Amino acid sequence: MAPTVTTLINAESIASRVHDLGAQITRDYRGKEVNLVAVLNGSYVFVADLARAIDLPVTIDFLGLSSYGGRTTETSGIVQITKDLSRPVEDQEVLIVEDIVDTGLTMAYLFDNLRTRRPRSLRLAALLHKPARQRVAVAIDYLGFTIEDKFVVGYGLDYDDRYRNLPFIGVLDGAGSE
Ligand code: IMP
Ligand code: MG
Repeated sequence: MAPTVTTLINAESIASRVHDLGAQITRDYRGKEVNLVAVLNGSYVFVADLARAIDLPVTIDFLGLSSYGGRTTETSGIVQITKDLSRPVEDQEVLIVEDIVDTGLTMAYLFDNLRTRRPRSLRLAALLHKPARQRVAVAIDYLGFTIEDKFVVGYGLDYDDRYRNLPFIGVLDGAGSE
């Protein structure tokens, strides 16, 4: 059966929440420059919108991480850097931008890794959080939405590299472990 996508969070709700997160970040970092570290590939849509909702000097760098092997909806738990940052983050206000925190293993790895590079501050903005599947605790400083234990796609999130271009977040039925 071909997978179907059911809308979970529509485009208007995402836009409104991302706008609020941007305003909150703008207040919290007032007078500073923020370096957004976007985790590829899933956060490319979120970071594009979030960056434009922040009214401060902003730099953006990209980091590729992979913890899933291809056609699967389960993390392997083994995190690999597939593309490193292009610049050092020492003494900078670093805000990691991630699409979704699921087990937390990816973000736990990234926090440990980036801390060794001595940023002045290190925080996390995540669009989605699935607390039901948490295996390691991760502090999310700016959270878009908490969702149930469903595999979601759209707004940057993929299944087997597809559906990233959907303008909303939807639940994928009939794929992988579902
Ligand atoms: P974690 O290490 O289990 O927290 O996995 C985080 C990564 O898995 C995210 O950055 C996503 O790329 C991917 N991921 C987790 N849940 C989903 C989902 O429901 N849809 C699409 N990707 C997901
Ligand atoms: Mg990701």
